Amino acid sequence: MKSPVDKKTDLTARKNRELTAILEVSRVLTTSFDVDKNLSSAMSTLANLLDMQRGCVFLLDSITKELCIVAAHGLTKENIEGGKYRIGEGIVGRVVEKGIPMVISNIGNEPLFLNKTGSRPEKDGISFLCVPIEFKKEILGVLSVDRIYSQKHGDVNDDLRVLNIVALLIAQFVKLLESFEKVEKEKESLKRELKGKYQLWNIIGKSDRMQEVFESVHRVAPSRASVLLRGESGTGKELIAKAIHYMSHRSKGQFVKFNCASIPEGLLESELFGHEKGAFTGAITQRKGRFELANGGTIFLDEVGDLPLSLQPKILRVLQEREFERVGGEKTIKVDVRLIVATSRNLEEFVSRGKFREDLYYRLNVVPIFLPTLRERKEDIPLLIEHFLERFNEENNKKVSISAEALRVLMDYDWHGNVRELENTIERLVVMSGKDTIKSSDLPLNLNVPALQEIPRGPLKTGIEEIERTMVLEALKKSRGVQAKAARILGITSRQIGYKIKKYGITYTQP
Ligand SMILES: Nc1ncnc2c1ncn2[C@@H]1O[C@H](COP(=O)(O)OP(=O)(O)O)[C@@H](O)[C@H]1O
Ligand SMILES: [Mg+2]
Repeated sequence: MKSPVDKKTDLTARKNRELTAILEVSRVLTTSFDVDKNLSSAMSTLANLLDMQRGCVFLLDSITKELCIVAAHGLTKENIEGGKYRIGEGIVGRVVEKGIPMVISNIGNEPLFLNKTGSRPEKDGISFLCVPIEFKKEILGVLSVDRIYSQKHGDVNDDLRVLNIVALLIAQFVKLLESFEKVEKEKESLKRELKGKYQLWNIIGKSDRMQEVFESVHRVAPSRASVLLRGESGTGKELIAKAIHYMSHRSKGQFVKFNCASIPEGLLESELFGHEKGAFTGAITQRKGRFELANGGTIFLDEVGDLPLSLQPKILRVLQEREFERVGGEKTIKVDVRLIVATSRNLEEFVSRGKFREDLYYRLNVVPIFLPTLRERKEDIPLLIEHFLERFNEENNKKVSISAEALRVLMDYDWHGNVRELENTIERLVVMSGKDTIKSSDLPLNLNVPALQEIPRGPLKTGIEEIERTMVLEALKKSRGVQAKAARILGITSRQIGYKIKKYGITYTQP
């Protein structure tokens, strides 16, 4: 028999442990939004501090209306799988149905106890405590524990009190998680909507810079405003010009493309404005120019900086008055054309040097759109690669993919030819590849060389030597130091590579 003093110390110790357990559970639950982890830790805490053998958190699935174990202590994976209850079924199901705690003092004597998890080979002598997880009268699930009572260890009412508090903590956690997930979902869908808003068909660009371009395209497309597209070669100016046309009210009209740098100056005027029969030697018939062909549609003048000064007033007149005469003709022709122009050159410099009329420049510069280089939007490179792989795989009936390491090389490369160069590179890789996965060693050598800007600036010779040194080193790495093989990779003879290794003082030791 215990003395009253001993009993009192036992009780105080137990109260302390209860408080610690509750504190610990509330701490665990607020560390993150990881349900499994947090609830499992909460169950272990209860088991350790309050001598509970098994513990389970069941949550009600709002769709299937089934109670499933989401966290457990002392159960195997199979036990957990089996532990599914419908509302009203077994003790667990009843607690959910009635919303009140239940205690089975000896599950061995209780026919209602279903032991679905099969986790209790010997049911006799085990007590089962089950409390609802409830939030503002809504039953979210059930918290259950197994406990072996003996004289020494506490009493049922104490346990129920602790379990009720823990169930309340869990309820708050579950609700908080629900609202967090809801907000996250809303945020995601808003984001997707935003991204989707500025999606252009077949034009890839998730980067902020491209999203700005897409936004401008959406704004300007429906208007009649002239657009000036600026950007290096291969950045997608023509693609954007077409997008503007097809997104405008003129999409049923023609999209006529003309490169001002493509033909001799003398022929430009008749190409653009057409000519009458006999206008010049060789003009045997009357012919319509590009502006007339584009009537009701869009004309895209590429490399507009190359437009000769002599022709610029005529372009200005079409823009302002929407009229012109054919070469050698008197009749004034009216057209309704939208003008989109592009340039990869510095137009302002042309203006200041008197090679481009200022008034025309201002007339064209109503809506400038700047296309970023690929170097400025590296995050789009993987998407573009995916896009081109899909296209060229389909065209070539192949299933080529690119290894992560090769992708890294492609992302590090400088892409001075921008998307066009990337597109051509991927097409070549798909067409030429004999295997399904392209590794970095399969990439053309120039890609494996550090980007030009990383090479120290200085005399050309130094730059070239630096490139050569890097290429030799790369080849040696790939051939694991076998010089003859490295020479083959580089397309030079063994003697030549020997000479270069000496010249650059390369010492290659295999890692
Ligand atoms: N954002 C992009 N998404 C998909 N393909 C692109 C993109 N930008 C350019 N391309 C492709 O790259 C190539 C070059 O584009 P283009 O519009 O002709 O460039 P630019 O007129 O600026 O020289 C084209 O084949 C085009 O389809
Ligand atoms: Mg172009």
